[in-house]
Amino acid sequence: DASALARAESLITSIPDYPKPGIVFRDITPLLADAAALRVVVDALIAPFAGRFDAVAGVEARGFLLAGAAAIAADVGLMPIRKAGKLPRPAASVSYDLEYGSARIEMHDDAAAGARVLLLDDVLATGGTLGAGRELLEAVGSEVIGIATLLEIDGLGGREALGGDLHSVFHV
Ligand code: PRP
Ligand code: MG
Repeated sequence: DASALARAESLITSIPDYPKPGIVFRDITPLLADAAALRVVVDALIAPFAGRFDAVAGVEARGFLLAGAAAIAADVGLMPIRKAGKLPRPAASVSYDLEYGSARIEMHDDAAAGARVLLLDDVLATGGTLGAGRELLEAVGSEVIGIATLLEIDGLGGREALGGDLHSVFHV
C-alpha cells in the first residue's frame, strides 16, 4: 500500500559526489535489506504488467537484484542480460554509450523466441542501458511488453529516449 511504499522509498539513500564529483549515487541497498520494503517494491514493479509477460529480464548488475525476486513473485522465468565477455554462448550483443566511453551487453537465447518479456532495472537515468537491453531482447526474438524500474531520475531524458510502456515505482 501507499504507506509501505513511502517507507520503502525513504530507505533509498543519496550519496553526493559518488562515484565522481557532481554525481549523486542512489543507494538501494538499505531498501533491499528490509524484507517488507523489498516485497512491496517488487510487487509494485510488476503490478501494472500482471498477466502480460512470460519472463522477466534484468540488466547486470543491479537489475539482477530485482529480477530474481520479480520472477518468483510473478511466477515466470528469468533472462539475465550480462555485461559482455561473461557468457559462453552469447546469442546477441549490443553496445551502448555511457557518460564516458561505452559498454556492451550480451545474452543467451534460451526460451527467448516469441517470449513476452518485462525488462527490469534498478535506476533509469539516460535510458542508455535499458534501450540497449530492449534492443538485445528484440535481437533474440523476444517482445518487450514493458520496462519497469525502481527509481527514475527525471530530467535526464530517459523516459523520452525509451518511449513505450514504462513504469517507475519512484521518481527523483
Ligand atoms: C547503472 C544503473 C542502471 C544504469 C542507469 O548501472 O544500475 O543500470 O546505470 O543509467 P542509464 O539510464 O544512463 O543507462 P551501471 O552500469 O552503472 O552499474 P551496475 O553494473 O552496478 O548496474
Ligand atoms: Mg545497472
